[in-house]
Amino acid sequence: MPRTSASTAPDLRFSGRRPFETAREAQEVSELIRLVLVNANADIGDSAGEAIMLDTLNGGRSGSFVFKATPVATDGRRLYPARTVVKVAPLDAGTAEQANYEKFVRPFLPSRYRPELHGFATARDRAALCYSLLGDGDKPETLTDRLAMGDLVALDLILLPLFEHLHRWRSASEIQPESDLARYYLARYFGDTRSAILAETTLLGHAARYFGGQHNARGYRIHKADFPAICELLFARRDARTYTSCIVHGDLNSDNIMLDGRRKFAGVIDFQRTGRGHIFQDIVALEMSVRINAPSNATFDDIWEVERLIALGKPPMCSNPYAVAIIGIRKTGRRLFGFEKSFASYQFAVAATGLRLMRATDLSDAACARITASVLWAVTKLTDV
Ligand SMILES: Nc1ncnc2c1ncn2[C@@H]1O[C@H](COP(=O)(O)OP(=O)(O)O)[C@@H](O)[C@H]1O
Ligand SMILES: [Mg+2]
Repeated sequence: MPRTSASTAPDLRFSGRRPFETAREAQEVSELIRLVLVNANADIGDSAGEAIMLDTLNGGRSGSFVFKATPVATDGRRLYPARTVVKVAPLDAGTAEQANYEKFVRPFLPSRYRPELHGFATARDRAALCYSLLGDGDKPETLTDRLAMGDLVALDLILLPLFEHLHRWRSASEIQPESDLARYYLARYFGDTRSAILAETTLLGHAARYFGGQHNARGYRIHKADFPAICELLFARRDARTYTSCIVHGDLNSDNIMLDGRRKFAGVIDFQRTGRGHIFQDIVALEMSVRINAPSNATFDDIWEVERLIALGKPPMCSNPYAVAIIGIRKTGRRLFGFEKSFASYQFAVAATGLRLMRATDLSDAACARITASVLWAVTKLTDV
């Protein structure tokens, strides 16, 4: 049974700058962290420290505070390496994450490749989750860290265990036929058509800037090729596109994939969006993370051509590790998920996911150019079917 006595609540210290905006926020979040650590203690054993040192971990796109928690002695000495992570999220998001964990993660994913959820607590408008730390070393390493170093070998090393992981979800959940792929992605990524159209406007700005794209009567013209208007093609078709659903992670960007000190797969984290979704959603999210994070010294013309070849499924250009990486993701996906018959729905997911990323404000020029080109080439494949 979790202990709840306030007398067992640990003393907290924050390393570096506190991430809070107001003293009140600091106090409320600290109280909640104490509570969740007390609740978790029954699971993680006696942490034996005089106090808990909290180091801010990166992330926070979702508006959460995430800390690594290490027991320390009174003189501040760390007593042993951190084994615990505490995430404080807005109430809805944190409660959804806990429910998803209990429903989809604990029962289906092997404990070796998932964090253990040791404790959960709520107070006012926040929820806190106490997890075991994945990976090792002082700073847990994400796939994003490796991609940003240009380490595409690390990606290659984790592909199989990661996809087998995802495949467990696919096997565990009933695969269901669904009726409307456009409605699914519109609701999931945009809310309404207006915000999808705004994203298309941003994408066209990029197409003009990087590739000299221009409007024409039917859509866009870039380097002597014609492209259809994107939202119209994706979201305004009369006859709905069917698709297959299963349990998906739902936010499988490379920040949510942890590696150990030997660059091996340590597990996935962040289950706020886990649940039933499009069968290829996670694979496409992963390839978009490569587009976002892998460094580039290619010209924009080269980026355009490489994305064209990727969309056409042309054999990998061995001299181009970036193209080999994306094609490797698709090959592994194809082997485990078999998308031969439904490749159009894969291309749809590329277009919808890329379009959503147009709303991000922190992407590099190379990332914007890659994503823009991948969306435009993906929609041309959709006009083929
Ligand atoms: N269990 C864990 N083990 C190691 N690192 C973690 C763990 N949980 C979170 N992190 C780190 O904290 C970051 C943010 O956590 P995450 O749960 O993804 O929050 P958000 O919902 O804000 O994206 C991750 O990208 C990762 O670097
Ligand atoms: Mg995350």
